[in-house]
Amino acid sequence: MQIGTPLSPNATRVMLLGSGELGKEVIIALQRLGVEVIAVDRYKNAPGHQVAHRAHVIDMTNDQVLRDLIALEKPHLIVPEIEALNTSTLADIESSGIATVIPTVKAVQLTMNREGIRRLAAEELNLPTSPYAFAKSEAELQAAIDAGIGYPCFIKPTMSSSGKGQSRITNASEVKTAWDYAASAGRVNQGVVIVEGQIDFDYEITLLTVRAKNADGVITTYFCDPIGHVQKNGDYVESWQPQPMAAKALEESKRIAKAVTDSLGGLGLFGVELFIKGDAVWFSEVSPRPHDTGMVTMASQRFSEFDLHARAILGLPVDVSLRDPAASAVIYGGHETTQLAFDGVEKALAVPSADIRLFGKPESFMKRRMGVALATGKDVTEARARAKLAASLVKPTIV
Ligand SMILES: Nc1ncnc2c1ncn2[C@@H]1O[C@H](COP(=O)(O)OP(=O)(O)O)[C@@H](O)[C@H]1O
Ligand SMILES: [Mg+2]
Repeated sequence: MQIGTPLSPNATRVMLLGSGELGKEVIIALQRLGVEVIAVDRYKNAPGHQVAHRAHVIDMTNDQVLRDLIALEKPHLIVPEIEALNTSTLADIESSGIATVIPTVKAVQLTMNREGIRRLAAEELNLPTSPYAFAKSEAELQAAIDAGIGYPCFIKPTMSSSGKGQSRITNASEVKTAWDYAASAGRVNQGVVIVEGQIDFDYEITLLTVRAKNADGVITTYFCDPIGHVQKNGDYVESWQPQPMAAKALEESKRIAKAVTDSLGGLGLFGVELFIKGDAVWFSEVSPRPHDTGMVTMASQRFSEFDLHARAILGLPVDVSLRDPAASAVIYGGHETTQLAFDGVEKALAVPSADIRLFGKPESFMKRRMGVALATGKDVTEARARAKLAASLVKPTIV
């Protein structure tokens, strides 16, 4: 493995497609390794744009526009950070030998749509999942629920993330509202929803799973300690690491994560979402990239999930060891504005061990994630209390 000089003809160039808060941290990790980074997003001044060598604003679903930018920038690696991409363009770019798509084109294609990854996990790999069906109309949705999914159930657009368009319903009178909400909030390929029976789990985890080369150059699977998290309306509000787990449940979690990531292939870090009840484990979904709940690793691990992703994709070895129990708590915008300011940062950072990341998003919404507070502790209980306190002391205001 050789890394060149950034901004020179022999530079090692990586292009991020999507440059939000997770992409921003991947870019910083790559910059530290001397990589030349090109950040792409659909809006100006995205978080990752602010720390990359070059920034572009394009429609990443447009074949020609995406092709032209790749021809201009000549990246060695293309790292998707979002799902709304033209994946057939990426497939073509990779098969023409122009660039490598991280982790693989297959992974990007299957995970951009809940149908692809769910069928792979449940039908091809025979992994346990919630009962599910797909529906193209309200009538089909009602029929699928009546035919066995039952209530309570979750209805989600097949193309969405962070809980957008998602609802949990408990009876037939809510089906129409859930259908309308999912159909209006889904991205790109509107109109197909997944309905899932509710899993009555004790807790849920993200198992960060890394496919990286070992010292002998052989691709090996590594697991970070499990991350516990709390979701509200399908969006993460708090996470911590390590989540205590029964040995059998952890072993089963690793088996499921290994099966899914082996099938998706390539190099990089994956966030495997799992539901746990006693010793039983269900696969929920997977991100073929760093995961929002994994921001806690910036405080808990020797190398964060972003460092691990950067190293893995470059073909470098990884160290997934935990350093301290830690937690993260989300800081929301709380205002609709393009000039948000944060008061109380000095109070937040006076909390023992606390740290914050403010993402620098140019536009704030009430429930937009604008930053995160991080803290360590003697155990996750102390870390969670500190992270939540620090997050609550940061007061978004309008100037
Ligand atoms: N079938 C289900 N049973 C129980 N809880 C669920 C189910 N589906 C989703 N949830 C809850 O909603 C959260 C978000 O769902 P998820 O499918 O991960 O959507 P997203 O892609 O938006 O993150 C999950 O982390 C879990 O808390
Ligand atoms: Mg999820």
